[in-house]
Amino acid sequence: MTTYLGIDIGTSAVKVLLVDSHGDVLDSHSESYGIDSPQPLWNEQNPDVWWQATVNSLKALQAVNESAWRQVAAIGLSGQMHGAVCLDDQGQPLRPAILWNDGRAFQESATLNRLCPNIGHTAGVPAMPGFTAPKLLWLHEHEPDVFRRIHKVILPKDYVRLKLTGTYCTDVSDAAGTVWLDEAKRDWDDDILQACHLTRVQMPTLIEGNGNSGTLLEDIANQLGLSTQVCVAGGAGDASAGGIGIGAINEGDAFLSLGTSGQIFVAKEQHLANPDAYIHAFAHALPNRWCHMACLLNGASPLQWFSTITSTPIATLLEEAESQHNIHDSVYFLPYLTGERTPHNNPFATGSFEGITGQTQRSDMTQAILEGIAFSFRDCLLALNSRHLSLTALGAIGGGAKSAFWLQILADVLNVPIHKYQGAETGPAMGAARLAILSHTQQDIESVCTPPPVEAIFLPDPDRHNIYVKKHVHFDRLYQALSPTYGHTSK
Ligand code: XUL
Repeated sequence: MTTYLGIDIGTSAVKVLLVDSHGDVLDSHSESYGIDSPQPLWNEQNPDVWWQATVNSLKALQAVNESAWRQVAAIGLSGQMHGAVCLDDQGQPLRPAILWNDGRAFQESATLNRLCPNIGHTAGVPAMPGFTAPKLLWLHEHEPDVFRRIHKVILPKDYVRLKLTGTYCTDVSDAAGTVWLDEAKRDWDDDILQACHLTRVQMPTLIEGNGNSGTLLEDIANQLGLSTQVCVAGGAGDASAGGIGIGAINEGDAFLSLGTSGQIFVAKEQHLANPDAYIHAFAHALPNRWCHMACLLNGASPLQWFSTITSTPIATLLEEAESQHNIHDSVYFLPYLTGERTPHNNPFATGSFEGITGQTQRSDMTQAILEGIAFSFRDCLLALNSRHLSLTALGAIGGGAKSAFWLQILADVLNVPIHKYQGAETGPAMGAARLAILSHTQQDIESVCTPPPVEAIFLPDPDRHNIYVKKHVHFDRLYQALSPTYGHTSK
């Protein structure tokens, strides 16, 4: 029996799946890590933390799956997108990676949009602060010594690839998140690179997600108990990998992802940029396929934050909120703990509770968090609708998709049926494993990237939707009222 590995370099953890040749999960392991925020708006991670967590997870799986381990034929990688990993000519990180939810490059985003007025069309979306390109402009300005020594700029999952194979390579879906990619051509755009004082020589080689980037280095293969023949597939940015994992590959296939970040993702068979509504029109990880994406910097992460500061497990918070649920409750939560991308493009936005009284319970606050994130998803849906994208159903993936209660709120707020697939919480790691299978076997894409069986369908209730539409208006007014108090605005 041939087996495969899917590795997702997430923001809060690495997740590794061991699957059989049908893509069925044999085992999984995850190891968490934190984010360093040394200054307001900054979010960084040391790339070696990803690598160490990956090695630990692989070893943990090896220890308990000896015979399946010997049959591993290929590895797929997925990861948090947009991270700037700057390497010297020895492949060593020159500084911590600057992550997707880092807001420091707000001025440089405006500069890049001015220097490259067509960037929204070419790269599928205008520059926004978390993207790789404006962060490199920031380094050019603020850390010239680091900038001068940059040999390569790569993305988070591609640092793990470099450690595994010694190759500098990325896939087009992750490259899309740099905004240095010409999305239609699926190639680096020399003009946007030049505007950032870089050239394509400093970029990793581009391949498709189901391509092959190389085989394991001998010492790594020995360390991990794997063959040197094991190949590493191109893989995908976590958004596209999530789509591959639930079979969202054909025109109009759509899903929402409730991980640390959140997205509504729609697969497209053509590239069509929608730069005005901050919809990301990016390359999908499979040849000749693209996507439209509305992206929230705050997906399920505010719930994790509330769980941490109240020292209460998420499961307990959800149980309380469900048993006390009152749709007419008037506590509101703006979930912008780390600024927001779609639809506001505002790194300075912050979170708020509103409507609290002496009677407010913790369960009201949890409900406000679940609803506030659902309202953010409604903002994304309205942005997609404004670009003539109407959705008839949405799959759901990511850790947040474990909660039936939250999925029902989302269906009611969005007025769209939500399909929960079996294994939905495995998210991007499953897409990575499927890309490993495709890369190794050259099987037909459609036969590997199938939707998993549907576990439950959450249908919107028209009465509840009407109530939520009114609540969303209030939510939106709160943002409009508070936004002048957030300081700079990057618009
Ligand atoms: C997508 C995005 C997030 C990150 C982290 O544009 O910013 O999905 O990849 O998950």
